[in-house]
Amino acid sequence: MSTRPQPPVEALTGQDVPDRPHQRPIKRTRRITAPQITGRKGKSPIVCLTAYDAPTAEIIDPHCDLILVGDSVGMVVHGLPSTVGVTLDMMVLHGKAVMRGAKTALVVVDLPFGSYEASPEQAFASASRVMMQTGCQAVKIESGSYATETISYLVQRGIPVMSHVGLRPQSLHVFGGFRARGRTDAIYKEIVDNAKAAADAGSFAIVVEGVSAELAEEVTDAIDIPTIGIGASAQCDGQILVTPDMLGLFKRVPKFVHKYGSMRDDVEAAVKAYASDVSDRSFPRAENLYVFKD
Ligand code: KIV
Repeated sequence: MSTRPQPPVEALTGQDVPDRPHQRPIKRTRRITAPQITGRKGKSPIVCLTAYDAPTAEIIDPHCDLILVGDSVGMVVHGLPSTVGVTLDMMVLHGKAVMRGAKTALVVVDLPFGSYEASPEQAFASASRVMMQTGCQAVKIESGSYATETISYLVQRGIPVMSHVGLRPQSLHVFGGFRARGRTDAIYKEIVDNAKAAADAGSFAIVVEGVSAELAEEVTDAIDIPTIGIGASAQCDGQILVTPDMLGLFKRVPKFVHKYGSMRDDVEAAVKAYASDVSDRSFPRAENLYVFKD
């Protein structure tokens, strides 16, 4: 249960206002913008999920304020051991697919490892390609202290940036694995400082991943842009999960995931029934056959 005072019901935009923001799907006529997400700071919680394909984007769109085409695609779709092997081409391909399905949520595409860290110019080349080729509205970058200059460079040149602090999966080889961050005073302070720097540089929102509730609350209170938590407690201004994780596609998921579905079991049961029907010739059924009148 959040210890924060509950906010008044607030508008997204004129006619798009849900009577109660927690009642979804929301009937929206226009796509949510990055400034509108920023404007939700301290108001109704921001609902975010990842998507990598058009049909999933279409299903989740009316329920979400923001859809992230995460570089988690490398792990949950392509079977890679981490996000380090994800390329810009992969992000463009999946970003295009998601944009075909998502009609009104803000779509943010991750810049993958190696496509933005070298310089602000490299980041601009990658981010502008992603925005021009997919039609997405913003990009996300994992934000160590090196990222501050890049964030303001991108924002000044027309690219809304969502930052990402705490557990930064692209840095797993420096961190020594996918472990929650902020155990020591030095790292705790570094995460707060990185978040403040990313906000000051012009990010419109910031993902806070894999930190304690105390640290999530401190970051949330320290900056005037929304924090989007993943493994970071309900103290954040919004939440995001990797969609196949929360749908129950995988046997093992991180501790912070709640499985809202049982997709793995459902898929296995359906495939088992199909295999059985094919084996005993009860599929195709009569209604699946083409019958020509003449
Ligand atoms: O790649 C991703 O899906 C992400 C989320 C975990 C925030 O960065």
